[in-house]
Amino acid sequence: MFTHRKRIVGDTRTSHTSIVARTMATMSNPGPVFTPTSTDAWIERDANVVWHGFTQMQTFAENRPLIVADSDGHYLIDSDGRRYFDAVSSLWVTTLGHRVPELDDAIIQQLGRGAHSTMLGNGNQIVVELSEALAKVVPVDTAHFLYASDGASAVEQALKMAFQYWVNCGIGGHTKFLAFRGAYHGDTIGALSVGDDGFGADIFNALRFPVLRAPAFNDPNCFDTAIAMIEQHAQELAAVIIEPSVQAASGMQLCDLDGLRRFGAACKQHNVLLICDEIATGFGRTGDLFASTTCGLQPDLLCLGKGLTAGYLAMSVTAASDEIFRAFLGPDLGDKTFYHGHSFGGNALAAAVALRHLELIDAWDVLANVRERSAEMEQLLHDRLDAKPAVKEIRLRGVMGGVELAPPQPGLRWGRKVAAAALDHGVFLRPIGDTVILMPPCTITSQQVHDVVHALAASIDAACDPAAIGPATIEPATIEPATIEPAP
Ligand SMILES: Cc1ncc(COP(=O)(O)O)c(C=O)c1O
Repeated sequence: MFTHRKRIVGDTRTSHTSIVARTMATMSNPGPVFTPTSTDAWIERDANVVWHGFTQMQTFAENRPLIVADSDGHYLIDSDGRRYFDAVSSLWVTTLGHRVPELDDAIIQQLGRGAHSTMLGNGNQIVVELSEALAKVVPVDTAHFLYASDGASAVEQALKMAFQYWVNCGIGGHTKFLAFRGAYHGDTIGALSVGDDGFGADIFNALRFPVLRAPAFNDPNCFDTAIAMIEQHAQELAAVIIEPSVQAASGMQLCDLDGLRRFGAACKQHNVLLICDEIATGFGRTGDLFASTTCGLQPDLLCLGKGLTAGYLAMSVTAASDEIFRAFLGPDLGDKTFYHGHSFGGNALAAAVALRHLELIDAWDVLANVRERSAEMEQLLHDRLDAKPAVKEIRLRGVMGGVELAPPQPGLRWGRKVAAAALDHGVFLRPIGDTVILMPPCTITSQQVHDVVHALAASIDAACDPAAIGPATIEPATIEPATIEPAP
């Protein structure tokens, strides 16, 4: 069991030796006890030199960060040897678990052939093999693959490809993008532009380009409105971009699948390019290999990342249809060329593990496991949480789940507190505002589903008793808006 230790917070400029100084002060003055353990020491060292994404570093240390020392299957192990079930798949990337011997071996084998060679104007055998394997399974017509590193880079590539497609075709006016409220496509400026406001995006409004905005998934008219916008703006659109089935970063908002189907058909009918961002939903998370397939969507451009390498290495990819690809063919060094590429795009180690991952998804029948565990998790979540006044809504598709809490006033940070309490039950969670995200590895076992739901129920009881609400834990003026709280 985890014993919560008092931690000195807010002093991120302390030197590496300050923990020793504090310990010595404690020894000569036995007042409040501060017992440095190896986890505390690692947190302090971390806070001194690391700047964490989507994290307020002034309060980093007090939010019980996990400093991982080791990992084993579905578990992360901290510096003190405590094990935590990785219920968010290390921010939605790990599909089969950590230290999977078959995946480790794929990387080791590839190391013997070289870690990386440039893909700019040149190739690498393992990347060819991966692309051939991906081409057989992605819902893109005769796909061609441009590799990058993070999801946001795959989105940038897709936006630029869509834009240049019309230029290369000699058809003017297609300069706008249509995206959805609640969307999240990454943090580079282009991806931030098509993403919705919130998550700190608004600060960069002067840099973000304007987009046409369809309603959020939880609006019952979402797709009717989006289809009407497509009809009205077809001649101006470079493309539409959507997270098919689930908007993960807005707290696992589920879309109406029939509406999505009609939306895809409208794009085809009006000759509007469709970009599907499956960076979160891809590789089995929803129960299908790709969520686009569930609704018969055939995107012109498909963005993949996160689970592409089973969460092992940073690799993303934009898959372009043959029609898009052909519009870029022309003379050497000519204007039709896509002048875009990243140093590490198509990294050989990442390609090797991605290829092995695809084989294992098939060999282990991972999709069947996702569907079975999802049904089990859905039932258990409702059984255990429905009656709790602290729970507002449960959303689940495949192994992408969000349990939205119902704090009676702002500033209570229930999401944060539930995640901290879950550590006491050996479960690692990371909430988005007051929605507790559950995105376990696709190979989660039945027992682990029970363990996670049990831990979540107990953590909600411990952290959010609506009857025992005191004053908000931080002054409202200093509260970050919920949408800038932890996100991917
Ligand atoms: C749907 C979607 N698109 C894009 C991204 C950005 O990916 P990355 O963080 O790898 O840049 C994310 C990250 O959560 C995502 O969920």
